[in-house]
Amino acid sequence: MLKKVAIIGASILALTGGALSAAESEQHIEDVAFSFEGPFGKYDEFQLQRGLQVYTEVCAACHGLQYVPIRTLADEGGPHLPEDQVRAYAAQFTAVDPETGEEREATPNDHFPKSVLENAPDLSLMAKARAGFHGPYGTGINQFIQGIGGPEYIVSILAGYTGEEVEQAGTLFYENTAFPGGLIAMNPPLSDDLVTYADGHEATVHHMAEDVAAFLMWAAEPKMMARKQVGFVAVLFLGLLTVLLYLTNKKLWAPYKGKKSA
Ligand code: HEC
Repeated sequence: MLKKVAIIGASILALTGGALSAAESEQHIEDVAFSFEGPFGKYDEFQLQRGLQVYTEVCAACHGLQYVPIRTLADEGGPHLPEDQVRAYAAQFTAVDPETGEEREATPNDHFPKSVLENAPDLSLMAKARAGFHGPYGTGINQFIQGIGGPEYIVSILAGYTGEEVEQAGTLFYENTAFPGGLIAMNPPLSDDLVTYADGHEATVHHMAEDVAAFLMWAAEPKMMARKQVGFVAVLFLGLLTVLLYLTNKKLWAPYKGKKSA
């Protein structure tokens, strides 16, 4: 009986293990050392600004960011744009006024627009939605140190086109080494020098992909830096408390300890 159970167990393990590695080999996610990874990681303000430029000039043609308020572009720890630039940025969009129901020029208090293309998903939470499942480092302590893997997935998608196209049921799909299943409906959005960076940063496909992925990570998790700081202070405080409690305990018991022999 026991032998049977052991054999069944072993074959289940072998089967699921095989299936898992087959699924993994289909998808290639590369690791990127982002500045915001690790317990002390920080967003790079200039990278976020470049990412905003890539999003605005390229991705916004199809994808929306409807959960992100435009005013957060001025936040410290985010792209940190001057207020007047944020106002000018908002003015390029239109918004429906919630009070009058009429269309007007958007202000920083409005959100980014919704997706223009119906089948292009909103990108507000994409960097977190694709964390873990596609990340190169799985979950747990590895994610804490190496990052959650969502931005890596976005970089890998944007840089993972093989150049092959396949037509299926009248729709054109593009072969992509990072997309589950290998065929994506998004045509390759980036090509070298598609945008011109004001800071002279080289606009290769990979650079643009990293910048926009960092920007989308910030969009999904704008308070990450503040959260890490609070965590750090909490750990420091708990450490101090531990030392104080240890010393108090020692002092309280001092009169009774070591008296056994006396
Ligand atoms: C021409 C329109 C178009 C442009 C421009 C475009 N996308 Fe897409 N994108 C799509 C469509 C359509 C899909 C859905 C693909 C699918 O499900 O096969 C998609 C899917 C995605 C996905 C989701 C993949 C997933 O796991 O579901 C990400 C991430 C993404 N796009 C990022 C970007 C970024 C970043 C840019 C700008 C550099 C961009 N896209 C530019 C049309 C576009």
